[in-house]
Amino acid sequence: MIKKIGVLTSGGDSPGMNAAIRAVARVGALEGLEVYGIYNGYKGMVDGDIELLTRDHLSDVLDRGGTFLGSARLPEFKEIEVRKKAVEQLQKHGIEAVVVIGGDGSYRGAAALTKMGINCIAIPGTIDNDITSTDSTIGFDTALNTVVDAVDKLRDTSNSHHRCSVVEVMGNRCGDLALFSGIACGAEIIVTAQTGFDEIEVLDALKEFDISKKKKHAIVIISEKITDVESFARKVSQFTGFSGRATVLGHVQRGGSPTPNDRVLASRMGEKAVDLLLQGIGGQCVGIQKGEVVGVPIEEALNIPRVSRKDLKNLFDRLV
Ligand code: F6P
Repeated sequence: MIKKIGVLTSGGDSPGMNAAIRAVARVGALEGLEVYGIYNGYKGMVDGDIELLTRDHLSDVLDRGGTFLGSARLPEFKEIEVRKKAVEQLQKHGIEAVVVIGGDGSYRGAAALTKMGINCIAIPGTIDNDITSTDSTIGFDTALNTVVDAVDKLRDTSNSHHRCSVVEVMGNRCGDLALFSGIACGAEIIVTAQTGFDEIEVLDALKEFDISKKKKHAIVIISEKITDVESFARKVSQFTGFSGRATVLGHVQRGGSPTPNDRVLASRMGEKAVDLLLQGIGGQCVGIQKGEVVGVPIEEALNIPRVSRKDLKNLFDRLV
């Protein structure tokens, strides 16, 4: 029976990570485990930046965005020598298993560590919703609320000035933030890696909204890494009846107090991660599927293809 476990947050932070850490630590303590916080992701594991979590660490964190453990990206963790140093540090502290909260890069680290004898369970913490083994990732709902709030505000001012707001949202090649916010905000156009981007087609559609549909404003939501939204907004001004303005929402989408849904999701996932470790299971990731919290082998999870979201895109097209 294991006695000491670690918990870390890794990759881009997301609202709700604190709630997940809290659940791991509280459920772990209740089950008689010592739960150690590993600071700054895998970097802290390699550096031995590790501390026993007490109730003091965990009070007043549930509603706080970010992660009190800190996060980092450590591409070098792919190297076996770097991971060996991490394992040495864990052994020095007597830590036998770890809960890793992060995105797919963090999942790979967790799978590799499990192969080296440290059972790891991964929890999906990312605003991108790009982990296919779960219906939702921790932080997605909060980020979606942030985007919707911002776009609703942009619509007010666009409407007053016969403008088209071109809004860039995050997602790291996953179009969910764009698609969900586009439907929730009643956007005119959504562009994601999955929809593709034909600039002329979008400009023509905007002309049509202006002339035939007599719209007073338009909202275009574009996933990041597809086009330069500033330059596209200038083309909107040049070639359509709207005056184009670009807004890059950026890291504001990663902050803020987690929504109740994210807090509950994070708490459920934290609990499941501890239960799996107590059963001696490692190399799995936790997900929510059809309302149930489940464990899926990480290697399998990383190979599940992304759902096409065609149904949502069709719905959007019917609503415009
Ligand atoms: O994975 C979360 C995310 O916010 C992505 O949406 C975005 O592409 C990336 O992280 C930004 O990373 P950084 O904070 O390192 O600039």
